[in-house]
Amino acid sequence: MNKISIVGAGRVGESTAQTLAQQGMCDEVVLLDVREGAAAGAALDIRQSAPFFGFDVQVTGGSDPALLRDSELVIITAGSPRKPGMSRSDVLGINRAVIDSILDQVLEHAPDCLLLMVTNPVDVLTHHAWKRTGWERRRVFGQAGVLDASRMASFIAGETGISIKDIHTMVIGGHGDLMVPLTRFSTVNGVPATTFLDQDMIEHVNEKTRHGGAEVLALRQTSSAYNAPAAAITTMVDSIANNRRRVLPCVCILDGEYTQQDITAGVPAILGRNGIEQVVELPLDETEQSGFLASIESIRADLEQL
Ligand code: LAC
Repeated sequence: MNKISIVGAGRVGESTAQTLAQQGMCDEVVLLDVREGAAAGAALDIRQSAPFFGFDVQVTGGSDPALLRDSELVIITAGSPRKPGMSRSDVLGINRAVIDSILDQVLEHAPDCLLLMVTNPVDVLTHHAWKRTGWERRRVFGQAGVLDASRMASFIAGETGISIKDIHTMVIGGHGDLMVPLTRFSTVNGVPATTFLDQDMIEHVNEKTRHGGAEVLALRQTSSAYNAPAAAITTMVDSIANNRRRVLPCVCILDGEYTQQDITAGVPAILGRNGIEQVVELPLDETEQSGFLASIESIRADLEQL
């Protein structure tokens, strides 16, 4: 890829810029923020790390929306993070206004890009971005499941003492308390995860996964998670920029899949250079299906608040 822009030079945006540059994911990374100095300063800091990591990626930052011009991928991380005790839905009103003005800038300066939404509540705002842009659904998607699944994997590694390298997990539904960790579709190098986990361990892992973000926030108090989120975003960018077509849980617009229409939810999808190439339907059992539907209903309820 030539150019990737990240809107929002907060901790998630800045960490993402650093990771993309470090991994040489494109020729140019732009950090955009209404706080000119925050974006320019972060970009300068990242550029000064280039000698250590040996990257030639051009990293620049500023507040002029024209910096978005010709971006092939725009990642939106801007907005108000939640405070301890708040749900992701509590920041919907304030972040919708932020997203609207950014989307207008994207439409003007990067009308052909792919759009990766990160700002919370990510499911609702991804749907909103899809409606507001009027773009094909393959071009508008969000990050949530890659992070939630990585949390699940880290908790399974913690419970079992087995290498994280061999643990593959899946989490679907919304990026909220009703997300659905899928133990049945999680494996340790092909061996069902249930071989290594008893029912108590499964419940513990699932509970920790659902509250993974809130736990970090409660400990830190003044910051949500950003290390794992930036790594999760980079994983998605890698699949897009290198056209790997990995199967990753992404916030997708559903058009008939899982019997759902005109709604977003986290589901596995093939992610490549054209964005969401295919939503993958999992054969859910009754409990998984009802958990998934409950999660979708809460996304619908938030959408009605918009
Ligand atoms: C989290 C927030 C960023 O899950 O949604 O950490």
